[in-house]
Amino acid sequence: MTKKRRSQHSYGKLDKDGFIHRSWMKSQGLPDDVFDGRPVIGICNTWSELTPCNAHLRDLAEHVKKGVWEAGGLPLEFPAMSLGETQMRPTAMLFRNLLAMEVEESIRGNPIDGVVLLGGCDKTTPGQLMGAASVDLPTIIVSSGPMLNGKHCGANIGSGTDVWKFADAVKAGDMTMDDFLSVEAGMSRSPGTCMTMGSASTFACIVEAMGLSLPLNATIPAVDARRGTMSHLTGRTIVDMVKQDRRLSTILTRNHFENAVKVHTAIGGSTNAVIHLQAIAGRLGIELSLDDFDRWSRDIPMLADIQPSGQYLMEDFHYAGGMPALMNKIKDHLHTDAITVTGDVKAAHFDGVPCYDDEVLKSIDKPAKETSGTWVLKGNLAPDGAIIKPNAASDELLIHTGPAVVFEDIEDYKSRIDDANLEVNENSILVLKGCGPKGYPGMPEVGNMALPQKLLKKGVRDMVRISDARMSGTAYGTVILHVSPESEAGGPLALVKSGDIIEFNGPERTLNLEVSQEELSKRRIKWQENIPVSPYTRGYAKLYIDHVQQAHEGADLDFLVGGSGSEVKRESH
Ligand code: FES
Repeated sequence: MTKKRRSQHSYGKLDKDGFIHRSWMKSQGLPDDVFDGRPVIGICNTWSELTPCNAHLRDLAEHVKKGVWEAGGLPLEFPAMSLGETQMRPTAMLFRNLLAMEVEESIRGNPIDGVVLLGGCDKTTPGQLMGAASVDLPTIIVSSGPMLNGKHCGANIGSGTDVWKFADAVKAGDMTMDDFLSVEAGMSRSPGTCMTMGSASTFACIVEAMGLSLPLNATIPAVDARRGTMSHLTGRTIVDMVKQDRRLSTILTRNHFENAVKVHTAIGGSTNAVIHLQAIAGRLGIELSLDDFDRWSRDIPMLADIQPSGQYLMEDFHYAGGMPALMNKIKDHLHTDAITVTGDVKAAHFDGVPCYDDEVLKSIDKPAKETSGTWVLKGNLAPDGAIIKPNAASDELLIHTGPAVVFEDIEDYKSRIDDANLEVNENSILVLKGCGPKGYPGMPEVGNMALPQKLLKKGVRDMVRISDARMSGTAYGTVILHVSPESEAGGPLALVKSGDIIEFNGPERTLNLEVSQEELSKRRIKWQENIPVSPYTRGYAKLYIDHVQQAHEGADLDFLVGGSGSEVKRESH
């Protein structure tokens, strides 16, 4: 006996409940026969004018709908909270779990059989996928796609990456403010996500690598007609997925996560992928530790020569062959039999796909960078771990011992970093506290703190920096992030004082504070006497602070880990 579609629990009943579910939907001009048991497809859209990277998603939704109708389904678009990375304060990451909660309940609460997630800007896709994973319906993703390459005065300009460079140049006196401001419009020339290998592009690549989208989803430029075509085909695919009952839990395995980590290494991806992948694995009950990232990335170099760790941009990546060409180059390291949304194994999407530009997508033998991926550091400064992106760091700083210059919070940093009397030199290690999940709250992208002006003027362009914050995927530098436990939770980071010696050894994966245990115990007693009182006493921020996990666990809310399936037992009337 075939299983009754879940939408039929609402639309298939010839009683008062069925009347209510159908009648109000007919107010939109829907005919009787669309409630005949065909797959009902929710299109979960994070379109918003306050999320410019997702500003074209309503157009893409129309393409998806055409494909759904054509394949015999009923498409129904619904909104989900949109998280504009460049607009939301204190940080969009604070709201990733709120989006996940909204998406989960919207999917479960509505009479839909499958869902297409439309997202792109950094936190939208991970938040949507976390929520969808906890419901476990057939699910497929359409990403925003990267914006067109930035252009200014004949040169390519990379989202974010060049902003950090130019901001340093202004501080160093090498660029005027007028020149700085004149780049704005040239950098962001179309809708779509940052066209560097920032967090959005990284996650779009990961989604494609895991087989959760159609091929080339990650790289087709946002405004390229072929993104409309791919969206149309996605509409057809989701209807088939419902018919085959191809749910997230029947696709995703630990092998998919291993493929994701290896691809993340080959693209030189954002550190943010670590925290998102762990949160998604947690929703699915798949084990994924911080150490897995380090272990799985060891044999793979960086092939995609894309900013911030390389030279080119996402449009170039697409014209070079996109993710299929990249995955073909590392196929010997991948689980080629991993199932995808189409029902094919992943290898069917990339095997034999040529690369059209070996400068943009280099090879394992001649990579863009030998070292890539995620280094997971442990030591008395980060008992539960900290991470660094070695391909974005300076080689000469990957083993470094120096005195700490400590900032107690972001306000302290901002008020003193450019003070001419600040005791700091190029061997110092900048330490920033109070920027973890609970501390900020929301773990903002401030870990790549700008260097002191007086050192920039001397020509210094990188220093070791340590914090419990994250950093933008578009950023670079020898930046140690996600120190766990965070200072607000009483991690050893809270005990560091200016002048303490910190020893960092990347190849050995160690991060230690050279202060005696006796002295640290004294400092801890003092810290406990002055535990900061959170000003967040109500609303979502309080819920978040009370329940957010630490960075090494994925920073989900503890009560959202796992899933509840799609069943709803009770009627609404
Ligand atoms: Fe939206 Fe970069 S700010 S993707």
